Amino acid sequence: MKLKKQIKRPLIFISLFILPCFSIFAQNNFVIDVKNVGAEIQPEMYGVFFEDINFGADGGLYAELIKNRSFEFEHPFLGWTPFGDVKVQQESPCFDKNPNYVRFNEKGLRTGTGLENKGFTGIGFHQYDEYLFSFYARSISNDENKFKVELLNAGNAAIGTSEILVQGNAWKKYTCTIKAKETEAKGKIRFILETAGTVDVDHISLFPKETWKGRKNGLRKDLAQALYDLHPGVLRFPGGCIVEGNTLKTRYQWKNSVGPAENRPLNINRWFYTFKYHFFPDYYQSYGLGFFEYFLLSEDIGAEPLPVLSCGLACQYESKECVAVDSLDSYIQDAVDLIEFANGKVSTKWGKVRAEMGHPEPFNLKMIAIGNEQWGDVYVERLEKFVKVIREKHPEIKIVGGSGPSSDGKQFEYLWPKMKELKVDLVDEHYYKNPEWFYKNAKRYDTYDRKGPKVFAGEYAAHDTDKANNLRAALAEAAFMTGLERNADVVHMATYAPLFAHVDAWQWRPDMIWFDNLTSVCTPNYYVQKMYAKNAGTNVLSIKSKDENITGQDSLYASAVLDHENSEIIVKVVNISSVNHEINIKLDGLKKSFEDKEVKITCLHSNNPDSQNTLAAPLAIVPGNYSISSEKNSFKLSVTGNAFYVCRLKIKQ
Ligand code: AHR
Repeated sequence: MKLKKQIKRPLIFISLFILPCFSIFAQNNFVIDVKNVGAEIQPEMYGVFFEDINFGADGGLYAELIKNRSFEFEHPFLGWTPFGDVKVQQESPCFDKNPNYVRFNEKGLRTGTGLENKGFTGIGFHQYDEYLFSFYARSISNDENKFKVELLNAGNAAIGTSEILVQGNAWKKYTCTIKAKETEAKGKIRFILETAGTVDVDHISLFPKETWKGRKNGLRKDLAQALYDLHPGVLRFPGGCIVEGNTLKTRYQWKNSVGPAENRPLNINRWFYTFKYHFFPDYYQSYGLGFFEYFLLSEDIGAEPLPVLSCGLACQYESKECVAVDSLDSYIQDAVDLIEFANGKVSTKWGKVRAEMGHPEPFNLKMIAIGNEQWGDVYVERLEKFVKVIREKHPEIKIVGGSGPSSDGKQFEYLWPKMKELKVDLVDEHYYKNPEWFYKNAKRYDTYDRKGPKVFAGEYAAHDTDKANNLRAALAEAAFMTGLERNADVVHMATYAPLFAHVDAWQWRPDMIWFDNLTSVCTPNYYVQKMYAKNAGTNVLSIKSKDENITGQDSLYASAVLDHENSEIIVKVVNISSVNHEINIKLDGLKKSFEDKEVKITCLHSNNPDSQNTLAAPLAIVPGNYSISSEKNSFKLSVTGNAFYVCRLKIKQ
């Protein structure tokens, strides 16, 4: 009913949304060739890249609220404030791969004996939400020892409390639920032994009771929901540089990230010390969000999983450490075993591990990336070994190779032909560049070799002068992405990077989604990704102005696709200038006609390209929707300055 009214009075409705900022219109004509349906667009085309950077996993998406829950950081009390008699021990531990635990020894003195933990830059509590507190313990003296646990606000007042009895001298798990009486962004927990006695304690954990999809060891609801809403086709994980490590010892080893979360050995996070000006000595990887959880997340958000594994080279920016080419067996075996973990029958060694973790069905892994930002012959020689074995054992799995850390230059030029020789399926390209680069490179793939491996734009983001997540950067990405879409025969996947950042603990920006301990905000860059992913279509259509692709003429960029399944034509138009345009978009060769006259439009716009969304004003720039009416085989799109439009029209087929 409402919709019909909008169609009948398009101008009135549009005027509310756009006309106030219109003054002069430049005229343009675009023609879409509907007769010649072009290349297929891969369902994975627009995806996300997740790395534990900016406290994206521990302290972010992974819902655990306690930092250093197993006392395994290099300084075991980092993150904790011990008081009274609490000491770190290792003898007959609860978890062999995380051997540290703490011994509470309370003699009945006034100081009390206990621990406080402030989480990751404070613990966020939501009023009336319940929190699951748990720990492992054994009584060393007494049969029974009582603990009190308190949720505290920033003023040190208890806003939730509970008591737990520890019984017996064998390690056991204890759990209680605590409701928060107040909302607090910078809270903490206090855990006190209330009886005079000696008790060993390990793996002290606090989770919101409600995690995304109610999963145990789960994910923070708002952040996972934002990923789901994005509609991503692929999830690349777990990095990034953390795959490589600054040393081979600290590389990401997926086998350490599966099995019971309590017994996943801790690893340092290289983003702890990579940037001296953003130094975070408390940044470690608990692997609580590990490969099982990544596969599950991929499944839950409808994205194809794309794991990245070490190729036997530590980060080449930081180190020359590498595994000898003839000693790569265990690294290659890790790749083969990962395929078994994801896809193998439950009777296989790694398929069994997956099943025991709660997922007997295979995850249907289809591709794997070897190496992140590697370069030189050291990479090629090692990748070759992986390719040989994976092809032999798993010809069904696509292999993603890399083209180094730059979008061009010596290493890039060297690696691409090598990737063709190795016959990898996709080549990962990375570009963190200024908006001008993105405008210019909207044509980048028009001239790529159509016969070689496909392109995976695995990391990219427009870096404006202040590296802000502003509309200018988002529009530069949108403009560039018209080129990805037009060249979907060559470009098979693209993932913006990085994904998450904690406002109080980031190392790298811009990032797609920002958060604090309570809330999150989606950037204009997020909305661009979402508008593409939700309107990906199934096949490319040619859209031209004066017989040329629209790649910056009059500061306009455009692409068009057919959505075969829904019989719709989808047109994307980006205007990076402040000049308004009236564009006549004609559909050439339309066999029948439009199913109806409605053109549904989604528009992301602001008069000020510097504008951003913030936690305080998260909806400053969000896409708006409206409809206009089409004519017989065309429609007129009024395009305001600094805007990205997606237009959808239903056609008869
Ligand atoms: O996305 C941040 C970092 O940028 C990634 O870890 C790395 O691959 C690139 O250098």
